[in-house]
Amino acid sequence: MNPSLSIYENLGGAGALRKLVEAFYPKVQKDPLLGPLFPEDITPVMEKQYMFLTQFFGGPSLYSDAYGHPMMRARHLPFPVTPERAEAWLACMREALEEIGISEPLRGIVLQRLSGPAFHFVNTP
Ligand code: HEM
Repeated sequence: MNPSLSIYENLGGAGALRKLVEAFYPKVQKDPLLGPLFPEDITPVMEKQYMFLTQFFGGPSLYSDAYGHPMMRARHLPFPVTPERAEAWLACMREALEEIGISEPLRGIVLQRLSGPAFHFVNTP
């Protein structure tokens, strides 16, 4: 891992972000707490997440260019995000990072960066 580069670049750029969301969403869909919140056709969600995580980790601003200000907490308000669901989301992300071969310390850094937003999106106990 090169600390002078972005997380996006450390992960491996566009190809790695694609692999990450492709590893992540099947786990989300299988998770008993998360699966029921998502539509059967997960492809549009995967594409948006690819665009969002790309910019979140310091790559090109794909999400904002297409959809404007992310307002991610607001976009999650229609869904009951509990602390348990935030934990489950992060656990799926940890498994996905492992699956695509992202090792420590980068894996821990990525998860730490995502845990802030995940718990910030909690909108119901
Ligand atoms: C805390 C637990 C979380 C839950 C339960 C959750 C759940 C959801 C759900 C149900 C959707 C909508 C799917 C649809 O379009 O029908 C969604 C969309 C999305 N989520 Fe999450 N999410 C969580 C955390 C996060 C985190 C931590 C991030 C990124 C930092 C994130 C990024 C996104 C993005 C980019 C979208 C697409 C937004 C759009 O429609 O433009 N989510 N999420």
